Amino acid sequence: MSRSIGLFYGSTTGNTESVAELIAENIGLDRIHRIDIAADGLDSIAEYSHLILGIPTWDFGELQEDWSDLWQVLDAADVAGKKCAVFGLGDQIGYGEWFLDAMGLLHDRMQERGAELVGYWPVEGYDFEASKALNEDKSKFVGLAIDEDCQHGETTERVEQWCKQVLVEFGIS
Ligand SMILES: Cc1cc2nc3c(=O)[nH]c(=O)nc-3n(C[C@H](O)[C@H](O)[C@H](O)COP(=O)(O)O)c2cc1C
Repeated sequence: MSRSIGLFYGSTTGNTESVAELIAENIGLDRIHRIDIAADGLDSIAEYSHLILGIPTWDFGELQEDWSDLWQVLDAADVAGKKCAVFGLGDQIGYGEWFLDAMGLLHDRMQERGAELVGYWPVEGYDFEASKALNEDKSKFVGLAIDEDCQHGETTERVEQWCKQVLVEFGIS
């Protein structure tokens, strides 16, 4: 199979970049392209049938700066009908009132643009006050929740499990 999955991420201090590398290894380097949007932007997003998008939350519930700079590009991007999974990084203790908010904003934007969102993830095992990244009944995050600040030890296993789930939901496992 050709590389049909585009993994786009923004990362200010490197945590999301590390998780993006781990995800790429788990999905299989032969079927994924990893793109740092600070360097290469989002212009190639339409080329992929399947998308994985990674975003950390910064500054009390805000988008990470590279995503913020390119937010308008998503309005013009042709993502209708594409399968898309998001992952987010945050800090549930330090910023528990805004935990992973940016992942929720990105999820909602992609859904509005007609993408089919997959990769929802249970809230069990996390402790936070509030998040914009929850589904309607608040039983799941709308993507993979990673907390390198407080739960670094969980990351490898969470990524492994989530990648298996996403490949099944993408229908390309
Ligand atoms: C100044 C500052 C503000 C932050 N604001 C939030 C926030 O509002 N919500 C959240 O969940 N995490 C917040 N975080 C935690 C980051 O999202 C977390 O450290 C993440 O791993 C950073 O990812 P990056 O290294 O890819 O930029 C904040 C961290 C800092 C230092």
